Amino acid sequence: MTKKSKILSLQEIEAYFSDDYLYFGDVINTPVASDRQARAIWKLLLLEKGSSVLELGCGYGRIANRLAEKGARVVGLDVSPILLEKAKLDAAERGVDVEYVLGDMRSLPWRNRFDAAFLWYATFGYFDDHGNEKVLREAARSLRNGGRLLIEHVNRFASLRDRSPVCYLAQCDNDLRIDIMSNDDLGDRRVGERVIVRNGRVRRAHLSFSQYSFSQYVRMLRSVGFGTVEAYGEDGEVFTPESPRLVVVASKNNT
Ligand SMILES: C[S@@+](CC[C@H](N)C(=O)[O-])C[C@H]1O[C@@H](n2cnc3c(N)ncnc32)[C@H](O)[C@@H]1O
Repeated sequence: MTKKSKILSLQEIEAYFSDDYLYFGDVINTPVASDRQARAIWKLLLLEKGSSVLELGCGYGRIANRLAEKGARVVGLDVSPILLEKAKLDAAERGVDVEYVLGDMRSLPWRNRFDAAFLWYATFGYFDDHGNEKVLREAARSLRNGGRLLIEHVNRFASLRDRSPVCYLAQCDNDLRIDIMSNDDLGDRRVGERVIVRNGRVRRAHLSFSQYSFSQYVRMLRSVGFGTVEAYGEDGEVFTPESPRLVVVASKNNT
């Protein structure tokens, strides 16, 4: 069944990534999974101790703080004050120094600064094509020449094969998070309806994002100043049509 998607405003996106998102965070991405993902990012972005890294849509800092523990100099940007507050608390507990910035990834203050930048865990594609391309352009401007950009997302081959809709259930004590995922086949977007049952109350939220193919990523990335673009599967494995995830890594042209 196809479902028509709606593109959210920044305020609606911020409301979606709220306290409920945080509450189920460690159930969805366990600390062990976050450790594994941070190791994969370190490798794919060719990071070394002292590398400067920008995470766009850093959420509650589960990846940014881990990269800082490994010795990178990390800046995390997010639109959600609640998630950034948690990221700062976690950084303090881990004894790492990460610069957390409240902002919109479509308009960034940095130029030619970072060795690497990344958007992890389906954090790209929330806007229309123009808005999504703006994110890539701003990321390119923030990187030094030769810097690397990584985007981790769902593999559209895999999600298009799903019999739509598909339900994912997460439980935390007596509370439930139910995600009902469908495809907007004509809009090339994935549509998520989230039902939260927490403390006996029910809340609903919606989100949708573009499902770009690898060749579309290549076209968009080249148009904003990237040269080579590589494809990987989940956590940097070899990409196959069956891979649940697509990881795109691009290098900014030396100019
Ligand atoms: C799916 S979460 C992923 C968070 C984090 N990357 C992780 O792996 O845990 C997407 C994040 O992007 C943030 N976000 C969405 N749109 C944004 C925008 N325009 N500018 C900055 N952050 C944004 C959300 O607030 C949320 O924290």
